[in-house]
Amino acid sequence: MKPDGVERGLIGEIVGRLEAKQLGVVAAELRTLDHITAERHYAEHAGKPYFADLIAFITRGPVLVLVVEGPRDTWQVVRTMIGATNPTQAAPGTIRGDLAIEMAENLIHGSDSAESAQREIEIFFPHLA
Ligand code: PPS
Repeated sequence: MKPDGVERGLIGEIVGRLEAKQLGVVAAELRTLDHITAERHYAEHAGKPYFADLIAFITRGPVLVLVVEGPRDTWQVVRTMIGATNPTQAAPGTIRGDLAIEMAENLIHGSDSAESAQREIEIFFPHLA
C-alpha cells in the first residue's frame, strides 16, 4: 500500500478487501522506503518522465509492504481487485475505482506477474524468497 493509502487511514479498508477475498496475509510491515530500495523496486520504469515523481511519492512516508497468498493466480486476483492504473478509468468495485481519483495517488501497487512477485518479495522480505 502506497503512502497515500497509509496517510488516508485506508489500511483496514484495503487489507480487509484482500482478506475478504480469501487472500491470506503472509508478511506485512509498515516501512518508509529509502531511494535505493524504491528505485530497485521500480527499476523497469527508470527513464520514464514520471520516474522522479514516482520515487519522491513512494518514499514520502510509510508504505505497508504486504505479501498475500491465495489458492491460485494470486498476483492476477490482486491486480483485478486493484483496478486500472489511472483511477479515473478504474472500474467501480475495484480499490482504485472506489477509493482514488489522482493518477499518482493510486493507493496500492500489485505485482504484474508471478516473476515480478518473486522479484519484489526478494526485495522487501528476502527471508521469504
Ligand atoms: S504500467 O501499466 O505498469 O505500464 O503503468 P505505467 O503507466 O507505466 O505506470 C507505472 C507505475 O508508475 C506510476 N505512475 C506515476 N506515478 C507518479 N506520477 C505519474 N505521473 C505516474 N504515472 C504512472 C503508476 O501508478 C505505476 O505504479 P504501480 O505502483 O506499478 O501501480
